[in-house]
Amino acid sequence: MEEDSGRIDCPDVKDDYADEVRATFFDSVTGLFNHDYFKLTLEREIFRSQRYGDPLTLALIEVDSYESYDNVNDRFWLLKDLSKVILENIRQSDLGARFGRNTFAVILPGSDSSTCMIALDRIRDAANSSFKVHETISIGVVSFSKDIKNSDELVERAQVALSQAKMHGGDRVYRLEKKGVLKEKDNARVLVVDDDLMNTMLLKRLLLPLDYQVITSSSGQETLAIVDNEDIDLILLDVMMPGMDGYEVCRILKQNENTRLIPIIFVTALEDKDSKIRGIEAGADDFITKPPNALELTTRVRSLIKVKNLNSNLISIENVLFSLANAVEANDVYTQGHTQRVSHTAYDIGNRMGLSPRELNAIRIGGMLHDIGKIGISPDILHKPGPLNEEEWRIMKRHPEIGFNICLPLKDTLKEALDIIRHHHEKLDGSGYPDNLEGEAVTIIARVMAVADIYDALTSDRPYRLAMPKEKAFGILRDEASQGKIDEVIVEHLLEMIG
Ligand SMILES: [Fe+2]
Ligand SMILES: [Fe+2]
Repeated sequence: MEEDSGRIDCPDVKDDYADEVRATFFDSVTGLFNHDYFKLTLEREIFRSQRYGDPLTLALIEVDSYESYDNVNDRFWLLKDLSKVILENIRQSDLGARFGRNTFAVILPGSDSSTCMIALDRIRDAANSSFKVHETISIGVVSFSKDIKNSDELVERAQVALSQAKMHGGDRVYRLEKKGVLKEKDNARVLVVDDDLMNTMLLKRLLLPLDYQVITSSSGQETLAIVDNEDIDLILLDVMMPGMDGYEVCRILKQNENTRLIPIIFVTALEDKDSKIRGIEAGADDFITKPPNALELTTRVRSLIKVKNLNSNLISIENVLFSLANAVEANDVYTQGHTQRVSHTAYDIGNRMGLSPRELNAIRIGGMLHDIGKIGISPDILHKPGPLNEEEWRIMKRHPEIGFNICLPLKDTLKEALDIIRHHHEKLDGSGYPDNLEGEAVTIIARVMAVADIYDALTSDRPYRLAMPKEKAFGILRDEASQGKIDEVIVEHLLEMIG
C-alpha cells in the first residue's frame, strides 16, 4: 500500500517519466495527491469495503475563512501549512489529497468514523497552531455503510457533514452517522429488544431520564439489522422471543469482530441457574430480572457503557500508536511499508501454523509496532549508508527496549504484543538481544515475527545494500535456522507460503 500513501513525495527520479507521473497524480501547489487520484483510490477502497466488509471513513477538511484572504501569498501558505499538517498526522495506510480549491480529503481505510475522531481532532488542533495567521479549519466525517451506493454519494455525505461543521461556527469536526444523523458529542445509544411492547415501553421510560437515546426492536432479526446499521452502545435483550431467541442474537453479536464489544444485558423473567449459564455461554455481560428495578437497571447500564467507552478509547489509542509507528517509517524511504508487510507476513505464517486468535491478534498489533522504538534512535544511525560501527550497533540494539517502554503503559490492551516488541530480535541460541533469551524462552509469536522481519529486511532496499532476490533470502534464512538461531519450522512455513 505504500505507493498509495499521501506520505510519499514523488520519488527523486529525474527523468521525464517521473515528471509525467508527478503531473498526473500530484497537486502542484500542495504536493498532495490530486482530485483524480483521490477519486480512483476512493472507488477502489469502496469496492474493497463492499467485498470484504472492512470499515472505511472519508473526511473533508476546509480552511474556515479562506475567501476572506485577498492576498494570494496568504492563501498559498494556508494551503501549504494545512497540507503539511495533514501529511504529518495521517497513517501510512491513509491517503491525503487536495479535493478542491481550499478543500482537502483524507481517506482512512480500516477505521470507522468514531475511531478516526481522535486523529481528526489532532489535525484540527495542529492546523490551528501551525497557521501563520489566526485561522481555523472545519472537518466533515462520514463512514462508508451498506446503504451508500458509490463514491459520489459518500463524498456528498462528507460535504453535508462539512457544511454542518461550518454552519455551527467552524473550528470543529462533525461526524455524519450511518443513518444521516449528525453527531458532535456522543449520547450513548441503548437498544431495547423485547417482543412484548409493554416491556420495551417500561425499559424506555426507565432509561430516558439518563439522557440516552433509546431505540427499540421486537425481534432477533430486526436487532441484527439495527446493529448492522447504527452505532449501538448497549443492548438490553429479552431471552424468550419467537423466532431467533436472545441467546442466538447474543452469540452472533459476540462472534462478530465489529459488534463483540457492545455490552449485552439479558432482561429475563427466568431466574433459574441453567438459563444464566446459557446466557454466559452466549457471551452476555450481565443479567437483570423482570420486572426491572430502576436503580439496578440504571447502575448496570451506566457501568457497562463506561466500560464500552473505555474500550473504544483504547482502540483509538491503538490507532495513535500505529500513527506513531508509521511516522517512524515515513522519515525513511528504505523502511516504508516494512511494518505493514511484516505484520501481514507474520499473521499469514501464524494462521498457517494454526495459532490461536489471541496469538494472531498479538502478531497483527506487534507487527505494526515492533520497530516503534526506532523513534528513539538518531537518524544518522538509522539512515547510515554503510555498515554500523560497534558503538552505533550498541545504540541501534536498544530499539526493542525503547519500543517496549513506550508501549508499556498500554500493557492491558497490547498484552502479548509487548512481548513481540521487546523480543523480535532474540535468537534461539541466546545470541539475540536485548535479553539474550534462549530456546523455549522465546515465545512462538516472537519467533514468527523474527522470521517475517528478517525476510522483509533482506528482500527490500536498505541504505547499505539493495534488495536481494527471494531465493537468496531463503538461503540465508535456512542457514540461520540450521545454526539454531531461528525456528526451522517457521522458516519452512514461510518458504511454502511465498516460494
Ligand atoms: Fe527491529
Ligand atoms: Fe523490523
